[in-house]
Amino acid sequence: MNFKEKLQFDSEHLWHPYAALKNTPARFLAKTAHGTTIETADGLKLIDAVSSWWCVAHGHNAPEIVQAIQQQSEKMCHVMFGGFTHEPAIELGERLVRFLPQGLNKIFYADSGSIAVECAAKMAVQYQYAKGHPEKCKLVALKGGYHGDTAGAMALSDPDGMHVLFRGIMPHHFFAERPNCRADEPWNDSDFKSMEKMVEEHLGEIAAVICEPVFQGGNGMWLYNAVYLKKLRELCDRCGILLILDEIASGFYRTGPRFAMEHAQILPDILCIGKALTGGSMTMAACVASEEVADTITNSRISAFMHGPTYMANPLACAAGIASLSLFESRDYGASVKRIESRLKQNLLPMKSLENAADVRVLGAIGVLELKAKPSNEDILKVIRETGVWLRPFCNYVYTMPPLITTDAEIDRICEAIRLVGECEPAPIVSGEDDFHE
Ligand SMILES: Cc1ncc(COP(=O)(O)O)c(C=O)c1O
Repeated sequence: MNFKEKLQFDSEHLWHPYAALKNTPARFLAKTAHGTTIETADGLKLIDAVSSWWCVAHGHNAPEIVQAIQQQSEKMCHVMFGGFTHEPAIELGERLVRFLPQGLNKIFYADSGSIAVECAAKMAVQYQYAKGHPEKCKLVALKGGYHGDTAGAMALSDPDGMHVLFRGIMPHHFFAERPNCRADEPWNDSDFKSMEKMVEEHLGEIAAVICEPVFQGGNGMWLYNAVYLKKLRELCDRCGILLILDEIASGFYRTGPRFAMEHAQILPDILCIGKALTGGSMTMAACVASEEVADTITNSRISAFMHGPTYMANPLACAAGIASLSLFESRDYGASVKRIESRLKQNLLPMKSLENAADVRVLGAIGVLELKAKPSNEDILKVIRETGVWLRPFCNYVYTMPPLITTDAEIDRICEAIRLVGECEPAPIVSGEDDFHE
């Protein structure tokens, strides 16, 4: 197949994320990816301004991770985790226990972020069951949140967001208003009222609250005040319900500190991590419980946690995770993210004055230009080709979450591409068109 035929086959036979099978905007045929750059079959070199959906923290194909996968593949690509354990799983576990905040040390390996969220919700329900509260089987989540695309994770994501069509297959949960108090504004107590009310009204049914700390990603790229999380921790403690923090997007230095929970100096009862865990090389996530949660389940009548995916703790993914954690430990990403943050602020904040700008927000290695209206996909693709910067705007959000190794010069180029998208003519939304989601 020549280049054109390959793309033709792709558009006839391969579903892509959040896209129609046919009639989608032209796709790029990625050939290689190293460091911050993806190279396409037609010779384009694109800076990956979105870390390939936020996972490629160390840059593409970090040699340390590639080597770890290669070495592990010579010994064992996979073995079932039921009845067996193996060294990569144990070593990754040891490293995670060291890397995670103290007290979070009972690890359930999952195969994707959505599955980690499913596991966290099930764990919370099983915990309440073990405590003698089988009726506590609902969660409270936040409007504007995103926790994944499987049924259980969709059911915890924004109820009016992109999953509306699937309401019929989703379990029902409760939703508090999105925290409105911005990360860069003083805290306003009234912001917590909706959550307080929701928990108090439905306490008898609630197992846990789940949220993305500080950074709500996939459903609005929103950055909110960390005091909300302090209040939430106090509320959960007062009411005897669990707090689940989904750090799948915010973890591993994305917002500045190692985990976003550090902005509020709180700990969850259950933590979800994923994406950057393997540095964007293999699919793997984890759901990590406190000792109290794990012991309560373990010491109950149904002591097993009832979940077990086929590829659980896949040795290749564990090897990648070990190498990725070594990089997180040996590099000063705290300093890199500070540098990226200040460069993003310098470049993006002045874009508030663009005619089509609704808002600009920056935290850590996250920069968002929210537009009043989105330009056409054709115009966005033109900017990508002309600037050599891979952006993936969705709805009205043009954003960057670059690899943590991105240089100042590359950040400048990314921001210039964002500005050019911000200056494009707004276009009407065409139904069924690839909305460049997430
Ligand atoms: C906060 C959060 N939770 C869960 C998920 C789902 O992860 P995955 O796509 O690996 O299933 C995402 C993905 O963007 C996410 O941002």
